[in-house]
Amino acid sequence: MLEAPPDGPPALHVENVDVTYGRALSALRSVSLTVPSGAVVALLGANGAGKTTLLRAVSGTLRLHRGAITAGRIRYGETVLDGRDPVAAVRAGVVQVPEGRRVFAGLSVDENLRSGGLGLGRRGRAQVQEARERVFALFPRLAERTHQAAGLLSGGEQQMLAIGRSLMAAPRLLLLDEPSLGLAPRMVDRIAEVIREINAQGTAVLLVEQNAGMALSLADHAHVLEVGETRLSGPAGELARTDAVRRLYLGESAEDQGAA
Ligand SMILES: Nc1ncnc2c1ncn2[C@@H]1O[C@H](COP(=O)(O)OP(=O)(O)O)[C@@H](O)[C@H]1O
Ligand SMILES: [Mg+2]
Repeated sequence: MLEAPPDGPPALHVENVDVTYGRALSALRSVSLTVPSGAVVALLGANGAGKTTLLRAVSGTLRLHRGAITAGRIRYGETVLDGRDPVAAVRAGVVQVPEGRRVFAGLSVDENLRSGGLGLGRRGRAQVQEARERVFALFPRLAERTHQAAGLLSGGEQQMLAIGRSLMAAPRLLLLDEPSLGLAPRMVDRIAEVIREINAQGTAVLLVEQNAGMALSLADHAHVLEVGETRLSGPAGELARTDAVRRLYLGESAEDQGAA
C-alpha cells in the first residue's frame, strides 16, 4: 500500500461501478464520482436510489449485505478499495457512519467511542486520547454523558455518538449516511454545523442525504442518483438551481418556479 502523497490526503475515485445484490438485483449501474481531498460531496436521491449501496461499496461493507461490485473500480489515492474488506478501508482512512445511527444501546457513551478505534491495530494512548478530545470538543453533550447508556440518549445525541465513534478512527474521508434523518430541525442545523466543522479540520465528506437543502448548502459538488444511475452531477450551487432538483428534492412546485 502506498503512502498518501506529501501534499495532503488523497481523493476518492469511484469509476463506472456496477453493484448487484444476490444473483439478480442490480442496484448501481456505471456510477462514477470523485471526492477531492478536503471536499464535501453530496449524494442525493429518493428512497431506493442506491445511495447507501454506493457508501457500502466504498467502505467494503457491501458483502455483509450480500452485495457485490460486478464492474468498475474504487480507488482512494493509490489504494484500490473495491474487493477489499471494511478494515482495509478504515486503515486507508475511509470510515462510514451507517444510516439509522446504530449505536450499541446497552453500552455507555465511552464504550461506544472506544469501539470506534478497533480494527486499526495497536495505537498509542496519546493518539486515542487525541481522538477522544476531538470528539468531546465537537460534542460537549457527549463529554457530559460518558457513563450513560447510549440507548438513553436522544435521537440527535445518538447521531452525534455515531459520528463521534467514527471519528475515533481518525478518518480522512467520512462517509455519512442520512445523518439528518428523523431529527428535529434544530438538531438538523446542529448536525450541519458539525459536518462543516469536521470538514474544516481537514476531513473530506461524502454526504448522503434526502434533505437536499441541507446537503447542497454544505457541499462543493453534488450527484443525484435515480434508480441506480447518475441522473445529474455538478457544482452544488448549480444543481440547487436546476428545475429537476428544485422540484423533486427541494420541495418546490412547478408554480413556485414559474413565479421565481
Ligand atoms: N441487502 C440488500 N439485499 C437486496 N437488495 C438490497 C439490499 N440493500 C438494498 N437493496 C436494494 O438496492 C436498491 C438500492 O438501495 P439503497 O442503496 O438502500 O438505496 P437508498 O440508500 O438510496 O435508499 C433498492 O432497490 C434496495 O431495495
Ligand atoms: Mg439509504
